[in-house]
Amino acid sequence: MKTNLTLSTPAHVETECLVVVALDRATKDKPEVSIETSDAAVKSAASEVIASGEVTGKTFESTLVHHPAGLKAKRLLLLGGGKAKTFSAFDLRRLAGAAVRTLKSRGLRSFAFVAPQNSTSEESVKAVVEGAFVGNFDADTYKSDRKEQRIDELTVVAAGDQGKLQQAVDAARIIGESQNFTRVLVNEPSNRMTPTMLADQARKMAQEVGLKCEVYGSDKIKELKMGAFWSVAQGSDEPPALIILRYEPAGAPEKPVLGLVGKGITFDTGGISIKPADGMEKMKYDMAGGAAMLGAMRAIALLKPKIKVTAIVCATENMPSGKAQKPGDVQIAMSGKSIEIINTDAEGRLVLADGLFYARQLGCTHLVDAATLTGAVVVALGYVNAGIFANDDQMYERFSKAEDKAGEKFWRMPLDEEYKEVIRSGIADIVNSGGRWGGAITAAMFLKEFAEDTPWLHLDIAGTAWTEEAKPWIAKGPSGIAVRSLVEFVRDFGG
Ligand code: BES
Ligand code: MN
Ligand code: ZN
Repeated sequence: MKTNLTLSTPAHVETECLVVVALDRATKDKPEVSIETSDAAVKSAASEVIASGEVTGKTFESTLVHHPAGLKAKRLLLLGGGKAKTFSAFDLRRLAGAAVRTLKSRGLRSFAFVAPQNSTSEESVKAVVEGAFVGNFDADTYKSDRKEQRIDELTVVAAGDQGKLQQAVDAARIIGESQNFTRVLVNEPSNRMTPTMLADQARKMAQEVGLKCEVYGSDKIKELKMGAFWSVAQGSDEPPALIILRYEPAGAPEKPVLGLVGKGITFDTGGISIKPADGMEKMKYDMAGGAAMLGAMRAIALLKPKIKVTAIVCATENMPSGKAQKPGDVQIAMSGKSIEIINTDAEGRLVLADGLFYARQLGCTHLVDAATLTGAVVVALGYVNAGIFANDDQMYERFSKAEDKAGEKFWRMPLDEEYKEVIRSGIADIVNSGGRWGGAITAAMFLKEFAEDTPWLHLDIAGTAWTEEAKPWIAKGPSGIAVRSLVEFVRDFGG
């Protein structure tokens, strides 16, 4: 999608459709709807339909006016943004997505969006562009009757400092495209996104944006003594891939070095502790954490913050076979810790254990991992918030600001020492499954054993990486969660 910026008056913009936000400013005594622009011509073009009482400003309400009087636009779309008092960039991002989805389903290929002026212009412009990219993605690649409906060109109409606004548009485009890059990877089924294919995609992307990329196979994984990663990989006929991407910009300080570690299970059958058949097809998205790291690295390479970042994606299938590990087996992780396997379906933490430890060996001073790690986080937080865990409050605070900027939702979960009791083993250092209660927390406690004293964040995105039901602003399918927050986090870290 091409993204243009214009500072001209909305009424003068020639476009298939001019989109403006309508906010609900009703008081107890009377209903009132405001059109979020200072352009009197646009307000006047909207006045008739507003006077009719058909427009309330309710969130995602859309009112289309053809041949709006006094405007160069062919159509005027009034898009409800809800109550003016609470309207924010978060809502605006979703409105832009909704505008894309409504207009593309009507066969339009381009439109112009008037960025409201209530927050800073740059923030508004960025939210519009990011939201539009989110809305433009559909997961219908394999449908032969797909309509190829998409928006090819978006024009953002804004007022302010042109240079700063253009920077905001450019950054937002990079972030939006990178989020969709992740979504394309996550959408692929496991026969079309094996660990090898994921590594190929990572390599290709790295070449395009100028990142260093290394990919290691079984031999190197064994040579590095990644016993936890290998214990999962050993059961599959598909070779695993240890994917390493490095971003080392000239002029970046030696430290900090941020490590982004992703779970890249391209299919999770559960292994010998096999999952029920019902819903197992969803486990193709068990590489969403790894794909999020790849998308984030793409954006980082293009945005060029002054900080070193290393990404590690541990990619493998989790399969039952004659070579698969079995409950009761004891594995020695790269760090030397021994792990008693209670449940082969708790495989994500195994591959991450070695990924996190390896990141520290490569010199990472700060760690973030992302993983579709537990069903328990879905029980705890549903599909709305992703779980976040931290062994370092300062790092958590920084991420919290980043997710706010990015318009993503994470909820902090606890890591009290008391939870460690349930991952104690009778025969080894720890078990890989603490059972049902507090399952998301005990999984995080397991990872903490491998992050040790390195400041670390863990993102459990099992409930949020796949949108189960289409929403006005986003299609059903892979969401690309965490990409935007990670990018903002790194940009903030890089100053
Ligand atoms: N990949 C799953 C977690 C998952 C569940 C992701 C639902 C997306 C949606 C993970 O590997 C898993 O199987 N976790 C087990 C852990 C248990 C065996 C301790 C779980 O959550 O049931
Ligand atoms: Mn599993
Ligand atoms: Zn899994």
